Amino acid sequence: MNRCIIGLQWGDEGKGKVVDILAEESDVVVRYAGGANAGHTVSIGGEKFALHLMPSGAVRPGVACVIGNGVVVDPEVLIEEIDILAKRGFSLDGRLYVSAAAHVVLDYHKHEDRLREASLGRDKIGTTARGIGPCYADKVGRTFAVRMADLKDLDALGAKLARIAEYKNRVFQAVYGTAGVNAEAILRQCRAFRAKLWPFVCDTTRFLHEAIAASKRILFEGAQGSLLDIDHGTFPFVTSSNASALGMSAGTGVPARYVDRFVGVIKAYSTRVGAGPFPTEQNNEIGARIRERGHEYGTTTGRPRRCGWFDAVAAAYSARIGGVDEVAMMHLDTLAGMESLSICRAYRIGGAETTFFPSDAGDLARAECVYETVPGWHEDLSGVRRYEDLPATTRSYVDRIESLLGVPIVMLGVGPDRCQVVTRNRP
Ligand code: IMP
Repeated sequence: MNRCIIGLQWGDEGKGKVVDILAEESDVVVRYAGGANAGHTVSIGGEKFALHLMPSGAVRPGVACVIGNGVVVDPEVLIEEIDILAKRGFSLDGRLYVSAAAHVVLDYHKHEDRLREASLGRDKIGTTARGIGPCYADKVGRTFAVRMADLKDLDALGAKLARIAEYKNRVFQAVYGTAGVNAEAILRQCRAFRAKLWPFVCDTTRFLHEAIAASKRILFEGAQGSLLDIDHGTFPFVTSSNASALGMSAGTGVPARYVDRFVGVIKAYSTRVGAGPFPTEQNNEIGARIRERGHEYGTTTGRPRRCGWFDAVAAAYSARIGGVDEVAMMHLDTLAGMESLSICRAYRIGGAETTFFPSDAGDLARAECVYETVPGWHEDLSGVRRYEDLPATTRSYVDRIESLLGVPIVMLGVGPDRCQVVTRNRP
């Protein structure tokens, strides 16, 4: 059984926990898009692990971890995570595979991310400042890109970095009035990256096809959420990769037909970090309550997340473009204690009602939500492990969302720990 796990909202749905649970039944866990902008918190026995770049399978000894070609790798973060995990008893030696074709995030990418965002003022995207956009831009631009494979020959890389520094300094000076890219300093960093990371670099497409031929069980782990997809999300308020299920094939070299189940992850409500339209946002005490109860602060940046009601139009769209077979709903426990809950079942845009999500940010900004209101519950769900033991109102809430999505909800998260889940109708 090969699975692909993806977020169906704007990221932070709790994919890390679902991947961690399903990693138990997997031999290989693969990241295919994004970079150190992701933040997966995995909680085991009360101890929390925040991973940004490493596949969540890293905390399962014996599971092979693959960073595919679609990922942009910040070597500094990767080395830090390898070291932190090793100190906690999770050595990556012999089980981490980093694509030679993955692009490398260097200091000037982070510098450019910050300079650009600062220059945009109120129009900024609200990026994580991890250099993601500039690195993907260099990838598509080709001429000034650095891939993991380039770490092999440091002399050739030195010559390339000199050309890149000259170009970047001219652009930064002209556009932002500052230069500061030093090719020699970056080459020194790359020397250290090579020493630590080269043993992990390989052709991950070949590795994955060999794993498929050997009937290994593979788990593809999406980062961010489908609504942040560069092509299908709420452009321009998106990340720079195909964060939906559609990025899986391009980011690994594995066709979608090798994936048996696409599993979509949702939260029982909605959150968004950074700028961009968010129709169900509750910028009031309801949102503040969800934020505090759900600890809705960014894993990567610490920013408070914008919170709101569940948006079935948005999640159904993501499920549709992702070909999702089943859904895991996380953070159900967070909603306890509210008299009633609202679910957005349609939008009204320019007077017309629609249930198809407009990815155009302008249309989305004009969308008015058509809500259904259902009763809430007061019981603490954190100790519940069987679906039948959930309050009837909680089950009705889940059932209603399931019927709006048209996809079975097979797993419910009722707390942060690995064991705090309720499974249901699992095919
Ligand atoms: P970037 O990926 O850093 O370029 O940021 C682009 C947009 O995606 C911003 O709105 C970020 O807040 C958002 N974003 C990036 N990564 C994540 C994530 O892991 N969770 C939620 N939002 C994210």
